[in-house]
Amino acid sequence: MMQTRTLPATDAGIKAAAALIAQGQLVAMPTETVYGLAGDARSGTAVARIFEAKGRPSFNPLIVHLPDVVAARDFVVWDDAADRLAQAFWPGPLTLVLPLREGAGLSPLVTAGQPSVALRVPAHPIARALLRACGAPLAAPSANPSGRISPTRAEHVRSGLEGRIAAILDAGACGVGVESTIVGLTGAPTLLRPGGLPVEAIEAALGAPLARPGAGGAITAPGQLASHYAPSAAMRLNADAPAPGEVLLGFGGAADARLNLSVAGDLVEAAANLFDYLHRLDASGARAIAVSPIPDTGLGRAINDRLRRAAAPRQP
Ligand code: TXA
Ligand code: MG
Repeated sequence: MMQTRTLPATDAGIKAAAALIAQGQLVAMPTETVYGLAGDARSGTAVARIFEAKGRPSFNPLIVHLPDVVAARDFVVWDDAADRLAQAFWPGPLTLVLPLREGAGLSPLVTAGQPSVALRVPAHPIARALLRACGAPLAAPSANPSGRISPTRAEHVRSGLEGRIAAILDAGACGVGVESTIVGLTGAPTLLRPGGLPVEAIEAALGAPLARPGAGGAITAPGQLASHYAPSAAMRLNADAPAPGEVLLGFGGAADARLNLSVAGDLVEAAANLFDYLHRLDASGARAIAVSPIPDTGLGRAINDRLRRAAAPRQP
């Protein structure tokens, strides 16, 4: 077991994190969505360490993080739709899957040998500072053991990956709270994962609806397993009230809630609280969690997607 250091979100902390990454080590970094487990995307060793630390099946490709659009374009075949979405939403909680450019220098492990790569320019100032300090593309899946809830605080990262990674760059809670929205651009623009950027905003920028995976032969996101993001407790969705033995994760005016995602019924606040509250209910030893109905618009789509995965039958 290695000692996992906590680094402060200061110039010195960022410098220390960049030095570890330059040695092929892993550092959990804050982003505006969730904490990512970052390693140099050009280094096969660093990327292999990411899979090992997470216990992640190696067929599941990783998102590559970059400081800006110019850096992102080096790795892919760029097009008009990418340009439109990048101009509108980068830096921000949007990931674009594009055709990988030959000889781009990424470890083949990052893309799991696929001809496409997922790119994101995060908005969090500490992530941006780390990317600039590293001068390297950073592969970063969410910083949780495979199949567990994504971390939105440094403490969540420590409880999942303590002793398995070199350091955690601690910048407090993540603002958005759910992972980025993923759009596939290797064919017709396709929604691969709802997330922190509302689908409605993307469709407005494109001037056209997004295709859905599986529809008309559209590509799918590997690793989008039905059971994912799971707490240890059993989950029951769209619950009006807790049954005996359940604790209620509420939304809006729910009575009897142990925790409420947003008393005001605000979906942005609910997204920011979602993983933290699931972590807290899990840590409290709750055996079964009932969840109030959440409207399926805006960030509600990402929240409901994560809740359905958390409630799905578990893999052994
Ligand atoms: O907000 C986020 O996106 C966070 C932060 C850290 O940036 N990252 C994140 O990464 O959620 P991860 O690895 O937990 O989820 C990445 C998803 C996976 O479902 C994977 O299948 C998909 O992106 N993905 C990656 N590369 C892909 C590709 N070439 N084609 C299709 N899907 C891809
Ligand atoms: Mg993840």
